[in-house]
Amino acid sequence: MNKVLATLLLGLGLTGAAHAAGDATAGQAKAAVCGACHGVDGNSAAPNFPKLAGQGENYLIKQMKDVKEGRRTIVEMTGLLDNLNEQDFADIAAYFASQAGSIGAADPALVERGEAIFRGGNLETGLPACTGCHAPNGVGNAPAGFPKLNGQHAQYTAKQLTDFREGDRNNDAGDAGIMRTIAAKLSNKDIAAVSSYIQGLH
Ligand code: HEC
Ligand code: HEC
Repeated sequence: MNKVLATLLLGLGLTGAAHAAGDATAGQAKAAVCGACHGVDGNSAAPNFPKLAGQGENYLIKQMKDVKEGRRTIVEMTGLLDNLNEQDFADIAAYFASQAGSIGAADPALVERGEAIFRGGNLETGLPACTGCHAPNGVGNAPAGFPKLNGQHAQYTAKQLTDFREGDRNNDAGDAGIMRTIAAKLSNKDIAAVSSYIQGLH
């Protein structure tokens, strides 16, 4: 295994925090207000609003908590989660996780570079392959809380990688700062290529 990857995984320590069991039917009703941006079935139309369909429950719950408790700033969601509790988060996560995620297309001009990074990382800079945590087909690892990436809007993914690199997301270094360490090794061109590749990955 890649040395950097092994170190990152060690740093992560425990994964898959326990949480209340979610009820997808209850979650559908609670997620009504979210549909305006994320799509009723979690497949958003606008490229700056992330798709939530098919995303892992543990990851979704962590993000909702991070947003509610101020560790991740999302201006568009200001106040939206304030009145939701742990059970609401579990129900909403169960609903979106149960939906099928749609897939987009990759820019043919960027596929080669994007695939090389996603599958191989970069030995010279110690960049681990994304597949180690996000799986070869990009579906992630739901119990571990490693998010599904495949099919996600490239514009959204590129913004996240830039935010991690610039310290604008997970700036509390939660998760041992895994993605901040990784994104620090990506150039703007790398980010554009791997984000486009991910959009078409299936
Ligand atoms: C007005 C638009 C808007 C509404 C309404 C909205 N969101 Fe969001 N949401 C966003 C944006 C924009 C982002 C991504 C911000 C960024 O670039 O980091 C986001 C991100 C998220 C994420 C993180 C996704 C990921 O892959 O990391 C989750 C989870 C989420 N929203 C859940 C919800 C839930 C639950 C609701 C309803 C209670 C909701 N959102 C309502 C705009 C919205
Ligand atoms: C050691 C495991 C690991 C590796 C390797 C890894 N990631 Fe991640 N990734 C994570 C974790 C954990 C998160 C969730 C961080 C959080 O909770 O906010 C994440 C989150 C992300 C997100 C945010 C997803 C969203 O919906 O907002 C993107 C994008 C991402 N990773 C892309 C990549 C890319 C591209 C690579 C390869 C260059 C990569 N990751 C390699 C563990 C990893």
